[in-house]
Amino acid sequence: MKKVKVGILGCGNVGKYLIKNLFELRELIKEKEKLDLEVIKVLVRDGKKSRTVDGFKIPQQLLTTSFSEVMNTSPDIVVELIGDVEVSRTFIKRCLEEGKKVVTANKFLLTIDDEIFTNENVFFDASVGGGIPIIRTIEKAVPDEITEITGILNGTTNFILSSMEDGMEFSRALELAQKMGYAEPEPSFDISGLDASQKICLLAAIIFGIRVKPENIIREGISSIEMIDVEFAKEFGYSIKSIATIKKKKKSNAEEKFEIAVYPVLISRDSHLAQTKGNLNAVTIKGRRIGELFLKGEGAGGNPTSISIIADIIEASKGSKRDKRRIFPPDGKLINPEDIYSKFYVRIEVVDKPGVLAKIADSFGKNMVSIESVLQKGRGVGEEKGVPIFIITHETKESNLKKALEICSKLDVVLGAPFFLRIYQE
Ligand code: NAP
Ligand code: HSE
Repeated sequence: MKKVKVGILGCGNVGKYLIKNLFELRELIKEKEKLDLEVIKVLVRDGKKSRTVDGFKIPQQLLTTSFSEVMNTSPDIVVELIGDVEVSRTFIKRCLEEGKKVVTANKFLLTIDDEIFTNENVFFDASVGGGIPIIRTIEKAVPDEITEITGILNGTTNFILSSMEDGMEFSRALELAQKMGYAEPEPSFDISGLDASQKICLLAAIIFGIRVKPENIIREGISSIEMIDVEFAKEFGYSIKSIATIKKKKKSNAEEKFEIAVYPVLISRDSHLAQTKGNLNAVTIKGRRIGELFLKGEGAGGNPTSISIIADIIEASKGSKRDKRRIFPPDGKLINPEDIYSKFYVRIEVVDKPGVLAKIADSFGKNMVSIESVLQKGRGVGEEKGVPIFIITHETKESNLKKALEICSKLDVVLGAPFFLRIYQE
């Protein structure tokens, strides 16, 4: 039986569950994998804090506040679960220099550090999709030409949007997501779409080799979504979901291009993605020969995420190396967002008086945006009181919609900036 010493850096939401599950699964892993995984030391910031998870107390003697003490125990594998950039980078590089295998879930660091991302001794399945083996599936089980991956890659925002559909306020839902351990230490990373953009950029690099930075892709968060949008969507057979997508597009002899984005969309309530609720994540993988695969599961939370980490520890313990990654810069390969076609949902706050719709329809018409349906909810009280009107467009070029909305926003009957979301069609 091969004995493997595991050092762990970080004992927060994920680290605590990892330790508990390594204890609980030790015998099963011995039996199935012929590996004896032993946790030898755990680095924390606060060595005095008592740590219990689901009734399991983390043995105090495992904890240390000294990185050197972890390394002095000669671990075979070091798992990094601190989640910082500079501290984590320094520790990971030290481990690699000393010949250790490293397992990490630190998507932030992986998107900005090429050396760590391409290192054959760094394993990071848990960095995308929590407990869902997305990276492992794409790398090992789908030797096809992948054309698209679209999914829900952030559990916190999905939990918030699902809770809003059930009538809960945004701020309360965020509070709960934090309490459940889904959110990042800095929750604006979730809300702004940054976390999901890091994950889709990692997938882009893994599948296509294109090394794009999260700040260079289309990214919109969920903070502008109001209860009124969720209610409209529900009434008209849609859910609002924050999706991450990467599509490879090639027109006959033309060079291939990529559409990479994270944004909230309206999506039919019957679709697989709309049925993905709470902290769940899901992805549809489209391949030329395999057709469509759909993976769904717990995308955030320490318990499921720790299982992906254990899968990486097992793989690393067997002496495996990751595939050598080749990456190239995006140089002109990203599709300009303005050139993307979609159906749109638009909410405009207007003065409730005759002739308003005609003015709005005119600005849409002049910019070649065809309207599928319009709805006004309620009546404004008094001349200057606003009412929202909701518009669904036919498929149109995003730049045309933006021009139409710019004209609308200058109309004397329009109060505030119009708000729009794309409508995703599976
Ligand atoms: P967390 O709850 O904030 O835990 C961070 C841990 O790191 C804490 O135990 C903290 O110690 C320790 N730490 C922080 N700074 C340190 C330092 N300078 N020196 C030593 N220890 C330090 O974070 P988390 O939610 O577990 O996330 C960890 C990583 O997993 C992140 O990269 C995150 O993106 C990723 N991830 C998280 C989830 C999830 O559902 N939460 C899912 C997938 C991936 P103290 O406890 O003493 O403060
Ligand atoms: N904060 C992340 C999320 C954790 O909500 O999806 C999992 O990566």
